[in-house]
Amino acid sequence: MGKAQIGVYGLGTMGSALALNMAEQGFDVAVTNREAGWVAPFLAEAGALTQKLQGFEALEAFVAALKTPRVILFMIPSGAPMDAMLETVAPLLAEGDTVIDGGNANFHDTRRRAAALEAQGLHFVGMGVSGGEAGARHGPSMMVGGSPHSWAQLEPVLTAIAARYEGDACVDHLGSDGAGHFVKTVHNGIEYADMQAIAEVYGLERNGAGRSPKEIGAMFTRWNEGPLRSYLVEITGRALGYDDVITGGPIVDVIRDAAGQKGTGRWSVVEAVRLGQSANMIEAAVGARSWSSELSVRAVAQEVLGGDRGALGLTEAQLSEAFLAARILSYAQGFRILSAASEEYDWQLDFARIAEIWRAGCIIRSALLDDISEAFRGELPGGQLILAPAMAARLGQTIPALRAVVAGAVTQGHAVPAMAAALSWYDTMRQGCGTANIIQAQRDFFGRHGFERRDRPGKHHGPWWD
Ligand code: 6PG
Repeated sequence: MGKAQIGVYGLGTMGSALALNMAEQGFDVAVTNREAGWVAPFLAEAGALTQKLQGFEALEAFVAALKTPRVILFMIPSGAPMDAMLETVAPLLAEGDTVIDGGNANFHDTRRRAAALEAQGLHFVGMGVSGGEAGARHGPSMMVGGSPHSWAQLEPVLTAIAARYEGDACVDHLGSDGAGHFVKTVHNGIEYADMQAIAEVYGLERNGAGRSPKEIGAMFTRWNEGPLRSYLVEITGRALGYDDVITGGPIVDVIRDAAGQKGTGRWSVVEAVRLGQSANMIEAAVGARSWSSELSVRAVAQEVLGGDRGALGLTEAQLSEAFLAARILSYAQGFRILSAASEEYDWQLDFARIAEIWRAGCIIRSALLDDISEAFRGELPGGQLILAPAMAARLGQTIPALRAVVAGAVTQGHAVPAMAAALSWYDTMRQGCGTANIIQAQRDFFGRHGFERRDRPGKHHGPWWD
């Protein structure tokens, strides 16, 4: 075998799956791993694909086996391990080589690393990979940052291994340095919000309507046939159908309700705020995961404050429309963060294209994304997705249901942080005149901060101290 077209460092779940996917698509792939002992078992399990795979135990031999200019994909834990890896590998590389970080890295780190490698004539690509293990193996969605030089090197491989939506590969070069990792971060923020809204619908049906997990699962499965079709709705419907092998009861009933998070949802919220935005549905979803972890506090609070919840008489149509409205609003909030960041970092993100590469392969893939990409290609008043004619019309149809669901939930004591946040944001944005005049009056009153008047220019103060 000649020199390999690409190297994959890191044979964990995602790295192995991507390497096999590349080999299956006909590329010659060199592989290695920090624990050298992982290489032989990986090759042993690769079957016929070993013909396209070259395993190495030493980093130097792995690098030497690559065609130049080299392309190496690192699938290792983000953070300090990536910095340490770059220090080790950079001296082995030559001008024009590209190093890719395919993990869920913080885009600030990606920008810093890209600048550091650029100073050495090397290229650093932050690439968001979505779709979990099955996606990586058979077709992920990939959000690529970095230089045009790197994209030219990567495009053939990534286009070949990507998921396809009606033939269109779900991968693209989205912008320089941290653009790919930032878009992946926001993808995950939307993922958190969508998951939370689904969990809220489940809670209303379970605790407010007394439906069984299987009945609720069947409802999500029905929803997956219509405008709510999406991977997350599909897997929720399926998961609710499973029983636990130990107790024989529904598996959801034995899963502790304390949700983990690795950080990307939180980063979306932090970056939104830093950019002068607020994605309150994503905030609600991140916050709800944090609250969920306070199991002992909630157990005591249920005793002290009472955990009563009333019955709800919501129809399936109301719930599905409410969820669709919430989903539109969460995507819209995600794209607003992308828009703010694109301006701040001069990435010139193509929002229609981002929606397109999310249509297959990734965790938030959904029927709605096709409509969103169309909306971004059409008339978009103020650049706002919620004002695109098709989206505004859908919100017009579905917001009454969101109101009914949130009102019913709130009245009967059911927590719906994400759906309530969605509605508050919608109601805030549709008022040309809000209540921040009171905030400004207060600020001026206690701190002489001044305010702008509606009727004349300049900075003014109130009559409070006269
Ligand atoms: C994906 C997922 C994937 C993973 C994240 C989020 O797009 O394939 O987002 O990257 O699920 O690690 O996980 P947490 O929920 O643990 O933050």
